Amino acid sequence: MIGKKYQTLGEFIIENQSEFQYSSGELSKLINALRLAAKAVNHEVNKAGLIDIIGAAGDTNIQGEDQQKLDVLANDTFIQTLKNREIVCGIASEEEDDFISINSNDAKHQNKYVVLIDPLDGSSNIDVNVSVGTIFSIYRRVTPIGTPVTLEDFLQPGSEQVAAGYIVYGTSTMLVYTTGHGVNGFTLNPAIGTFYLSHPNMEFPETGNIYSVNEGNYIHFPQGVKDYIKYCQLEEGDRPYTSRYIGSLVSDFHRNMIKGGIYMYPKSSKAANGKLRLLYECNPMAFLAEQANGKATDGFTRIMEIKPTELHERVPFFCGSKKMVEKAEEFMAAAAKK
Ligand code: AHG
Ligand code: MN
Ligand code: MN
Repeated sequence: MIGKKYQTLGEFIIENQSEFQYSSGELSKLINALRLAAKAVNHEVNKAGLIDIIGAAGDTNIQGEDQQKLDVLANDTFIQTLKNREIVCGIASEEEDDFISINSNDAKHQNKYVVLIDPLDGSSNIDVNVSVGTIFSIYRRVTPIGTPVTLEDFLQPGSEQVAAGYIVYGTSTMLVYTTGHGVNGFTLNPAIGTFYLSHPNMEFPETGNIYSVNEGNYIHFPQGVKDYIKYCQLEEGDRPYTSRYIGSLVSDFHRNMIKGGIYMYPKSSKAANGKLRLLYECNPMAFLAEQANGKATDGFTRIMEIKPTELHERVPFFCGSKKMVEKAEEFMAAAAKK
């Protein structure tokens, strides 16, 4: 992976395009479009606390519409940016009931990629000025180019992903992505609207001392998860670990990748498959985790090997430093045997 000092994301994309055999530049254009949408969403997210003030001033946008909720706005921004550039043949979003087919009846359109997106992850954190994110996942369509996309194009196992990434709108705004050649992070300089390579070749430490889980649900967790949480809290060796849970998957993942840790959203007696969505959240994060020397499973099976059956399917999620995920799996396997 090439990565020069002070390199911008734009320069990086061009320089690394050759990593793709027979690359037509289509994926590069697609990542450029996501970069553009990310900057637009970042601009809106940064103004979140001002929305009522702007509203009070009677401000409306150029089409005369009222201010929208940020997750709807993020959804529209990503979809419109991709549509306008005619760069993908289909989009599926956590915010939409069904997938969107783009120029599906026009044989002239030779686009081969579909994008799946969680436009605003952790949106309940917006009101309290805590980091939120966007997650994206890119696949090559499996049905013939030039025909309308079908559900089959979206229901691919995560192992088929061509690229995946996230944007974290945090104290700094960062875009972190992989095309299967490691993970690189770019920080936005808001003064000039440019992302710079700030975190080349990001990797999860082999192990860590942070566990991230909504412990308020403890009573509803399976026994193996309860046992692992107790293990994290035990005074022994490098334990007890530190508990950190933001409630934005993107932010919790980002911190754990830098510092070393495990993120868990287990199933519970209240939610048979947990909460997180396989296609919009777990698969892209799993691809990033594996590319960053980490691991992602549903407690028993590698996330990226799960064959999806529906667009909005949920799955339990354990992701982070390899040794920590393996330890959690040991506890779950032991409890399952009992
Ligand atoms: P979203 O805002 O896209 O619906 O996702 C929120 C997700 C994830 O980001 C976060 O880790 C988790 O939901 C938090 O859920 P709990 O409040 O149940 O802990
Ligand atoms: Mn989400
Ligand atoms: Mn969301």
